[in-house]
Amino acid sequence: MSATSGIETVGTITELRRRLEAERATGRTVGFVPTMGYLHDGHASLMRAAAAENDVVVSSIFVNPLQFAADEDLDDYPRDIERDTALAEANGVRLLFVPSVTEMYPRGPVDTVVAVPELARRWEGATRPTHFDGVATVVSKLFNISGACRAYFGEKDYQQLQIIRRMVDDLSIPVEVKGCPIVREADGVAMSSRNSYLTPEQRAAAPVLRRALDAGVAAVADGQADPTAVIRTMADVVAAEPLAALDYAAVVDPATLAAPATIDGEVRLLIAAQIGRPRLIDNAGATMETPVPAPDAGGTGLSVEDPR
Ligand code: PAF
Repeated sequence: MSATSGIETVGTITELRRRLEAERATGRTVGFVPTMGYLHDGHASLMRAAAAENDVVVSSIFVNPLQFAADEDLDDYPRDIERDTALAEANGVRLLFVPSVTEMYPRGPVDTVVAVPELARRWEGATRPTHFDGVATVVSKLFNISGACRAYFGEKDYQQLQIIRRMVDDLSIPVEVKGCPIVREADGVAMSSRNSYLTPEQRAAAPVLRRALDAGVAAVADGQADPTAVIRTMADVVAAEPLAALDYAAVVDPATLAAPATIDGEVRLLIAAQIGRPRLIDNAGATMETPVPAPDAGGTGLSVEDPR
């Protein structure tokens, strides 16, 4: 275990358990922020939310091999543990769990896999079929190790957040899952460790995802109830950016992630596009306001402004 002034780094499961059991034994609440490191302001916002609601904040930095396919960027995933430790400390983290791969998976490849197949099969899961099994497995393991009261995840990985919520419900894991708003750069690009892969030219193209979502949100707000039309609106925005290749644009139910036949109330818009090396993802909530019938409209649904 190593310590700077306000933060301690722990490398073993035994030591982390010992430290957090001691905290819980004195009635202190534990907030947990799991990460893969290369931290940015999005992670910092999760840490601050955890610090505001809990007595002790623990964060993990573990680039989890289980959630990378063989052709993905496991070996090159960006890492900077010194910078990460300083950022975590500045945002209220007291314990930083940085295990090795052999500490987490001492028997080599795991035989036990946590899967949430119905939520995981679409959208990201269609392109990355093994990804969410790896996420659900490591997150359930981290919940078991930390015994945290609350755990904090960014809404940027919206499908991941819903999968973790469902896993916690289905397995009765005693942790409260908190989703936190997406943190964006000034030009609207959602913060992500993988943005560091973008060349300056690709980075200049990246706001197209946010522009596509904005167009989709505006279409829903304007009364477009046909999901296909909203998807087309988003796809057209991406098509106008030569450096971006759309993977998917989707209109989904916010909890089940299923595609509705018509939009009625709240939906989530999801988008993924390849821009150079990284596949960027983003999402936004959209609401179709249900018109309130005027009291004297006699149940016709006509508004008072209706000229008929
Ligand atoms: O979102 C991430 O950084 C990872 O998927 C997580 C939740 C830390 C699991 O490895």
